[in-house]
Amino acid sequence: MDISIIGSGYVGLTAGTGLASKDHNVTCVDIDEEKVGKINNGEPPIYEEGLSELLEEVVSEGNLKASTNTIEAVKNSDVTFLSVGTPMQDEGSINLEYVKQAARDAGKALMEKEKYHLFVIKSTVVPKTTEEHIIPILEEETGKKVGEDFGVCMNPEFLREGTALDDFMNPDRIVIGEYDEKSGDVLEDIYSEFDTEILRTSLRAAELIKYASNSVLATKISFINEIGNLCKKLDIDVYEVADGIGLDERVNREFLNSGPGWGGSCFPKDVRALISFMEERNVESDVLESVVDSNEKQKTKIVELLEEEIDISGSHIAVLGLAFKPRTDDVRNSPAIDIIRELKEKNALVKAYDPQAMENMKEIHQSIEYADSASEAMKGAHAALIITHWDEFHDLTMEDLDLMENPLVIEGRKMDYEILEKHTKGISWP
Ligand code: UDX
Ligand code: UDX
Repeated sequence: MDISIIGSGYVGLTAGTGLASKDHNVTCVDIDEEKVGKINNGEPPIYEEGLSELLEEVVSEGNLKASTNTIEAVKNSDVTFLSVGTPMQDEGSINLEYVKQAARDAGKALMEKEKYHLFVIKSTVVPKTTEEHIIPILEEETGKKVGEDFGVCMNPEFLREGTALDDFMNPDRIVIGEYDEKSGDVLEDIYSEFDTEILRTSLRAAELIKYASNSVLATKISFINEIGNLCKKLDIDVYEVADGIGLDERVNREFLNSGPGWGGSCFPKDVRALISFMEERNVESDVLESVVDSNEKQKTKIVELLEEEIDISGSHIAVLGLAFKPRTDDVRNSPAIDIIRELKEKNALVKAYDPQAMENMKEIHQSIEYADSASEAMKGAHAALIITHWDEFHDLTMEDLDLMENPLVIEGRKMDYEILEKHTKGISWP
């Protein structure tokens, strides 16, 4: 199938590369010329395991190319995915400007085209966006009728950063929201080689499934973090509690890992967008508001624990882990941002280290020191905080602690290394 993808970020590029590896002929479009250049050289502009090798392969085989020319790409394809960003507006609601503009551009391409065309919304959009905004724009720009000359689907993406390619290629399910059966059939055919459950539903149900999925995952984490704070008072290891409740299939152990709070490009944006969407419709969102509030409080719990141990003012604090989670260089809404801000406000001297995300964090926190390794960050430190559980931090040893002025590690993430327990404190485990 000839496929065009408008917006080649995490979702667009990963989906494009995955579909090209299934012998579809893919054109990835992006307004960012530098990104387009890199992609055409087989270099992914984002750090994702396995993506570089597969992208190089599909580009060299001619199954994938990149372009800044939306009109051309759409005209030369039969199916167009829209996966541009849907960022958050200040008060939390969704910004639909980019996805509307992408629909306008893509629609123009269809004016001269005779053949049936399918549009697939992959950007995360609030319910009824496709029906009330995207379809009217496409009809206006194309001068054609949905359901007759072109079809529309809403196909939310559930990939996680850090495991994007594997998640796209091996999804738990594929959700197809369809304008009509013909639209759904064309898209289901594209996914025919994916061995997973395909759920066919309405456009607005598919839109809501995406928000509800991210929101229930964020709720699980905020819940286990609160239980974790109780465990701290009772000298119980919250991970043992999570194991105990997670064995119940109705609960499931996934996403019950307590830590310094959830972040990233999606959970904060999507949970807030759903809250403001509900408020606009006078639907109470008490549960979700408390999920967000408790997460904000959770982010600096580790600093409170540190304050119980040492006088922070003037102390040298090593911050290990800056990315919002391991295996990505992304620091969007990372708890480390708030923790470093809090330490600076308390006059700490911060020295930070992360295997991948330091360049991105330097954009946010310029006035702190950055180290080339975890050991270097710990040299002369009065305490070390572990924020992101990169694999390499499991290799920290007593030698690293001997470098410190005061051998104390506070774990925002449960670690499994040879450092003696007497030198470590967990935010929700002994
Ligand atoms: C995006 C959305 O942000 C998310 O809500 C949705 O779930 C999936 O798609 P992601 O791929 O992570 O997620 O976003 P991002 O990495 O920011 O990529 C968006 C891409 O679209 C960027 O490369 C940007 O340059 C491009 N873009 C944006 C366009 O090509 N045209 C535009 O008008 C706007
Ligand atoms: C998330 C969703 O998982 C994915 O399905 C959707 O498409 C995009 O948003 P992502 O943002 O990449 O993916 O990160 P995820 O792995 O979900 O982690 C989100 C945050 O929750 C991170 O800060 C992570 O550290 C935290 N987390 C996750 C926990 O604190 N505990 C857990 O058990 C799991």
